[in-house]
Amino acid sequence: MIEKGAWGIVGMGIMGTSLSRNFISHGFKLSLYNRYVKGKEEKVALEIAQKYGILDKCIVFESLEDFVKSINIPRKLILMLPAGETIDKILQKLKFLLEKGDIIIDGGNSQFKDTERRALFLKENEIQYIGMGVSGGREGALEGPSLMIGGDKRAYETIKKDLKKIAAKDYKGNPCCSFFGSGGAGHYIKMIHNGIEYVEMQLLAEVFELLMNYFKLDFELVQKELESWQNSSSDSYLLRITSIILKYYDSEGSNFVSNILDQASNRGTGAWATISGAAIGSPNSLMTAALHARYTSVMKSKRVEFSKLSNFTKNKSSISLKQLKKIYDLCRWINHHQGFDMINTACKEYNWKTNLATVARIWSEGSIIKSKLMETLSTSFWSSSSIMKMERFRNSMNKSQNDWTQVINYAGNNLIPIPCISTSWNYFLAMTQKFSNANLIQAQRDFFGSHGFILNNQKENSLNHGPWNK
Ligand code: 6PG
Repeated sequence: MIEKGAWGIVGMGIMGTSLSRNFISHGFKLSLYNRYVKGKEEKVALEIAQKYGILDKCIVFESLEDFVKSINIPRKLILMLPAGETIDKILQKLKFLLEKGDIIIDGGNSQFKDTERRALFLKENEIQYIGMGVSGGREGALEGPSLMIGGDKRAYETIKKDLKKIAAKDYKGNPCCSFFGSGGAGHYIKMIHNGIEYVEMQLLAEVFELLMNYFKLDFELVQKELESWQNSSSDSYLLRITSIILKYYDSEGSNFVSNILDQASNRGTGAWATISGAAIGSPNSLMTAALHARYTSVMKSKRVEFSKLSNFTKNKSSISLKQLKKIYDLCRWINHHQGFDMINTACKEYNWKTNLATVARIWSEGSIIKSKLMETLSTSFWSSSSIMKMERFRNSMNKSQNDWTQVINYAGNNLIPIPCISTSWNYFLAMTQKFSNANLIQAQRDFFGSHGFILNNQKENSLNHGPWNK
């Protein structure tokens, strides 16, 4: 008799395959399923199992019914599928193939509200549902991802031992895997992760363009400079891969990056993060700036057309590399501040109890945004709940005014857009301003719409109107 699978993996794409190899390397028995689409997806699971020796003991399926029967009860299934309709379609089938107490985990980048809707749908048949953010790309899935989990707490108790085995381990050896709350909490945390990721990438792109200008388009010098930043608190996975990428040249001697069309794509998570910040009233202007930088990049033909209409010219200006690095570091702190603040606000809004130190800890290894800074935050959040109040940030920020203005001027004088750097600066100024200009906005709102305002030092929250409406 064939031994049943302890886990079932659905979807043998890059992430599903890598995660399966990870499970097997920890001694789990697996059932693998990939759908059958004539002429397009045939024998996919079988071929994957044959390709990777380590998977040859897995039982493979193209029939969902047989796959489900091959898994130990309570069945534990992980869906590694693209977000959206594909998930709904398979859940329609699984709802009637699975039994009470079985557990389905969505390990894709699903929208957190979709996860909540799906959990209710499956609850009708007493099937437990988990939304699990998985970060780390192919390498993370294979060697240990960062796992952000939300949904049915009882189901988590059943699966956590296994998931902790396959997760990345932090610098103390603890698994980067944690439960963050009911419903879509896991996918929400992953969405914020991706928002922070978008900004981290955009900041590097801005720094790259500034350095290219500084080093007069010499890729080698830019690469060396970024590589040297790794030996400091600026170190991160994204910084490292950027300096690796910049080492590649084509056969004609051109740096490989210069062959790539300058239009950045996205799969939606950055837009969801941006929308969510707006929906819960948590400023996430850096994520918004990074997302819109991608959108602007996509408008290539318009950019080319409009570039002919601008008569701006470059002016002489200077910065030091030390200044640029300092501003890069500070922007990263501000980016993390906005992201973590959003988690705090969302927890209140959706009734989740999430510890920021734990979030930072499980992102400190395995994830795409793992970094020295994240490691620092995983301990600093125990003594301070806000990055703006953290001593290290404050000390560095308070000595940086000249560096900010110099970097911003340098970019302006050289006609280099720096949406995330300049947004960081503006956000910091706004958040440290005792008196804002919002009194005028309130007066305008009242003038044209009688929306009312509260007066300075007013005790009760009743609304007043200005003399203009009389
Ligand atoms: C991760 C990544 C991963 C993926 C995103 C990128 O943590 O492993 O965030 O989930 O890279 O899908 O999203 P975009 O295609 O929107 O850049």
